[in-house]
Amino acid sequence: MNNQTAWWKKSVVYQIYPKSFYDSDGDGFGDLNGIREKLSYLEKLGVDVIWLNPIYESPQVDNGYDISNYKKIEPQLGTMEDFDMLLKEAHEKGIRIILDLVVNHTSDKHPWFTEAKKGKENPYHDYYIWKDTIPNNWGSSFGGPAWEYVEETAQYYLHLFAKEQPDLNWENPKVRKEVQEILRFWLEKGIDGFRMDVITLISKDPAYPDGPVIQNKAYGSYYAGCASGPRVHEYLQEMNREVLSKYDIMTVGEAPHTSADEAAPYTASDRHELNMVFHFDHMHLDYDENGKYAKNRVKLTDLKEVMTKWQDTMHECDGWNSLYWSNHDQARAVSRFGNESEPYRVKSAKMLGTILHMMQGTPYIYEGEELGMTNVRFDRIEDYRDIETLNMYRGRLEAGAEKEDIMNAVYAKSRDNARTPMQWNAQDNAGFTTGIPWLGVNPNYKEINAEKESKDPDSVYQFYRRLIRLRKTYPVFTDGKFELLLPEDEQIFAYTRTDRETELLVCANFMKEPAKCSLPAQWQDAEILIHNYKGAVADELRPYEAVMLLRKRQGK
Ligand code: NOJ
Repeated sequence: MNNQTAWWKKSVVYQIYPKSFYDSDGDGFGDLNGIREKLSYLEKLGVDVIWLNPIYESPQVDNGYDISNYKKIEPQLGTMEDFDMLLKEAHEKGIRIILDLVVNHTSDKHPWFTEAKKGKENPYHDYYIWKDTIPNNWGSSFGGPAWEYVEETAQYYLHLFAKEQPDLNWENPKVRKEVQEILRFWLEKGIDGFRMDVITLISKDPAYPDGPVIQNKAYGSYYAGCASGPRVHEYLQEMNREVLSKYDIMTVGEAPHTSADEAAPYTASDRHELNMVFHFDHMHLDYDENGKYAKNRVKLTDLKEVMTKWQDTMHECDGWNSLYWSNHDQARAVSRFGNESEPYRVKSAKMLGTILHMMQGTPYIYEGEELGMTNVRFDRIEDYRDIETLNMYRGRLEAGAEKEDIMNAVYAKSRDNARTPMQWNAQDNAGFTTGIPWLGVNPNYKEINAEKESKDPDSVYQFYRRLIRLRKTYPVFTDGKFELLLPEDEQIFAYTRTDRETELLVCANFMKEPAKCSLPAQWQDAEILIHNYKGAVADELRPYEAVMLLRKRQGK
């Protein structure tokens, strides 16, 4: 391995949704001091980097993705002193911290916006995107139109998300300077990078074209006029030149509606933009006419094709992949891609971990994934908190859908599946809080929790610890070329990773039915690095069996 290999290529990132991680003061909300108390847990797991979802002051319309002050900590989560201590203590343990940068939009309570809407002459007016008449058919991501009228200015402003999240006008150089200031503020504190929220949407097509009306929606899709807009690369290169390049950090951009080919210019090392992006191609595979809220299962052959395309493209352009099955916006990995029912949950969670962590890229573990936490099923819609879920429910009900159908969609895809509190132990509220949790705990916490899994050598948690450790053993994990095997097989996910000295083979059964699969002769005596069943690999892969083998290449 090249000695210069960037640290973030060798790292495993752990995503923390602070509100749901651990509550240190009994108010029902997770907080920064709660994360401090759990640093040893993360150290033991072996992760290198923590990504914190937004921790800044926010009215919480979209759980912190609506920021009213970028340089203050949200009081529910703690204080700046708590943050400084968290950063210091994490660094002492060798764990880096990256923050969420949300600068496509602010909160409507941000002083820039409260000023901006006072009148067209206000110096902040041009910080946002205003039109005298509605220019197109765009709908917002959370339902309803993407344009909102303001009486004071007699204009409409753009909001791709909730109306409380007005979009910033990146055409205005003052906005870009403000963002640079925010970046510097946090980087000077010593943080280790940023996850950039919907960063590929910051440059809008000045023609504001109509978007296609798809997925039973009432409005047009804004992506045609926003995804990878005309000036996005210029903006990112400017940000990189002025600020990011001056620090030893990592950056990962959230990139909805970005294909692997479109992602190459964002991540290719000679472009000096971002280190990697989160793509959505594998997340979209189970969409139906209702979009995300579908109950389909992903077809394995499609999944393999998408993952392979990203592996190949990033390898060829000298870019880098981010590897994830889940995050705070998605269903739980084991429920969506594996099998949450017994007796398959543990095996399938380990299988998913094996497949993902051995690909080329930086793996992201979403809190609770290392325990095999599952989706939740609250009986009543009133028990859900997420704006996207609640708006979807209301919208579909108004359109005449059956309650039961909508609830099934919620069970499959609500963002609250991922946001239920972390399951620490079998005590009340899974040990997350001594108060009333802001969102209910998944009732399966007595079975699935960190304390139990730490003591069980066969748990998902212990398996993830081994996966994380393994990645640090051979350079082939970082640099090896990926090659998909059996692309047409509807049950087996198998691939190799190869460098000059070593070859890895990952072979997994994605289904509960056994799958015939004999190892090629050269692999018969290979070393088993990790395996979610005991003993040797037979001619048939058992339900969700996953194994990784290593061999030295002949003559090397
Ligand atoms: C993507 C974030 O991950 C999601 O949680 C949020 O609602 C939107 N961006 C808007 O910021």
